[in-house]
Amino acid sequence: MNHSEIPHSDLQLWHQIRPYFQVDLLQWFDIQARDLPWRRTKDPYRIWLSEMMLQQTRVDQAMPYYHAFLEAFPTVFDLAKAPLDAVLKRWEGLGYYARARNLHKAAKQIIANHNGIFPKTAEEALALPGIGPYSAAAILSIAYQVPLAVLDGNVMRVLARVLAFEEDIRLPQNRKTLWIWATRLLPTEYPGRFNEAIMELGATVCTPAKPDCRACPLQPACSAYRNNQQSALPCVSKKPKIPHYHIAIGLVVNNRGEYLISRRPDDGLLGGLWEFPGGKQEPNESLEETCKRELQEEMGIEVGITEKVALVKHAYTHFKITLHAFLCTLGRGTPVSANGQPFRWVMEDELEHFAFPKANIKVIEALRNRKSKPTLFDETN
Ligand code: ADE
Ligand code: SF4
Repeated sequence: MNHSEIPHSDLQLWHQIRPYFQVDLLQWFDIQARDLPWRRTKDPYRIWLSEMMLQQTRVDQAMPYYHAFLEAFPTVFDLAKAPLDAVLKRWEGLGYYARARNLHKAAKQIIANHNGIFPKTAEEALALPGIGPYSAAAILSIAYQVPLAVLDGNVMRVLARVLAFEEDIRLPQNRKTLWIWATRLLPTEYPGRFNEAIMELGATVCTPAKPDCRACPLQPACSAYRNNQQSALPCVSKKPKIPHYHIAIGLVVNNRGEYLISRRPDDGLLGGLWEFPGGKQEPNESLEETCKRELQEEMGIEVGITEKVALVKHAYTHFKITLHAFLCTLGRGTPVSANGQPFRWVMEDELEHFAFPKANIKVIEALRNRKSKPTLFDETN
C-alpha cells in the first residue's frame, strides 16, 4: 500500500515493522516453508482446490485427499463433467460437503463463463459458489499475484501479537482494522508469497499456545514479544452461551375430541403462527406443573395430564428449546385467552390447515403416530 494513505498516527509504526514483514518474513518463508504439493504448482485449479480443502481442514489431513481428488479430476474440465456423486465420493470423510458441491458447481461456471480458466478479478471470483473474500484473496494472490491481503485466523493472530492489538477479534470492525494492516504490509510485488508466508508463520511458529518466538523472523518487530503478552493475544471474547429453555405444552382435548390451539401475536418471534398453549419451565417446577400452570394462566383452564406425547429439541438462532408435549383432559373452566389472542378447537385431521412452528409440527406428527411411548425428535444436530 502507498504510504500516503496511512494515517499519521500509524505511520511510524508502519515504517518500523514493514521491513520485517517484507524482507525477513519472506526470506524465512523461502527457507522454512513446508514443501506442500500446491506450492509446487502455478495451476490455478490446483491452488483453488487446495484453498477449498484447507479452509476447514488441517494440512496433514487434506494431503491424501488432494492427491486422490486430482487423480480423479486432473483438470477443471474433468471436474465439471463428473457426476456430483463421484465428486462427493472423493470428498468422503473430509467433512463440510458444501465445499465439494460448490467446487463442482463453480467448475461448471468456469467452463461456461471463463473458458475453463479460474477468473483473475476479485469481482468474478466472488461470484463463484464457495468463494468468499478470504478464498478470493488467497487464490488470486497465489495464482495470479493480485495484491489482495488474506486475513484468516493465523494471520489475525500474528498481526494482533506484533501490533499488540487488544481489541476483540470476533468483532467485524476489529477484523477490518487488522485487514487494513495486512493490506498496508502487503508487498505488491509478492502478494502471494507474503500471504502464504504469514499464514505459514501462524501455522508453524506463531501458534496459539507456546509460540516459538526465538525462531520468528518478526520477533524484533513484535510488541507482544517485547511485553511478554503472547498468551494474552489475540483477544477473543467467548461465544455468548445461548440459553436453553424447557417448554411444556398441553394438547388439551375436549369431549368432542378437538384440540385447543392458539395464535401467536403478529409481532415478535413466530408471529401469527398457531401453537399448542404452554410456556417456559420455572425453577423448582416439574414439567407437568409447568404445563398446568401455563394453561391456567394463559387460557384460564384447569387440566389433567394423561400422558407425555413428545419431546422435541429445536435450535433457534439465539436460543434452544426442548418442547415437552402432554396430552391433557379439560377439567374446570372454559378457555379465555389471557392476552386476547384468538384460539380454536380443531380436530386432529384439521391441524394441518393451520400454520405451526416447526417444533410444533413434530408434536403433531407424534400425536398421529402415538403409541405408548413419547416420541423423541432431536432437530439440533
Ligand atoms: N492455509 C490455507 N491456505 C494456506 C496456504 N496457502 N498456505 C499455508 N496455510 C494455508
Ligand atoms: Fe508471534 Fe512470537 Fe513472532 Fe511475535 S515474536 S509474531 S508472538 S512468534
